[in-house]
Amino acid sequence: MALILELIRDDHDLIRALFDELKSNPETRDVRCITLRRELSGHMYAEEATLYTHLRDAVPGEVQRSLDEHAGIRETLAKFEKISLRDDTWLPALDDLRRQIEIHFAREEGEVFARTKEHIDRGDLFALSEPFEREKVAAARTISA
Ligand SMILES: [Fe+2]
Ligand SMILES: [Fe+2]
Repeated sequence: MALILELIRDDHDLIRALFDELKSNPETRDVRCITLRRELSGHMYAEEATLYTHLRDAVPGEVQRSLDEHAGIRETLAKFEKISLRDDTWLPALDDLRRQIEIHFAREEGEVFARTKEHIDRGDLFALSEPFEREKVAAARTISA
């Protein structure tokens, strides 16, 4: 099993690839939108239940900023999902959602990962991997229902 930080980065890359697919392949957009909701919501939930729960005491400001960004992304995602695939505003809304998510991912892979390595030792980073995957699966089950 990998370090939780590697799993988080893999998720980010998978979500980035989903955005590329959503943009370039109109035929599969309906299915990919369902995948995006499951992957993105499950990812954020699992981060909150594992990494951010462990970091909260050490760097409360940093953690709160991430939770606020998650709330903003959830809000934008909910608005985006109300737009019909045939609507002219769908593609610009997809770009806006991606921009917001990329800013968040960049901050996590930069500042948050750096703070994590300062405050959580390698053994604990390994130990958090399994709960991270488990929380993601549990969240996906309720999200896709
Ligand atoms: Fe996040
Ligand atoms: Fe993330």
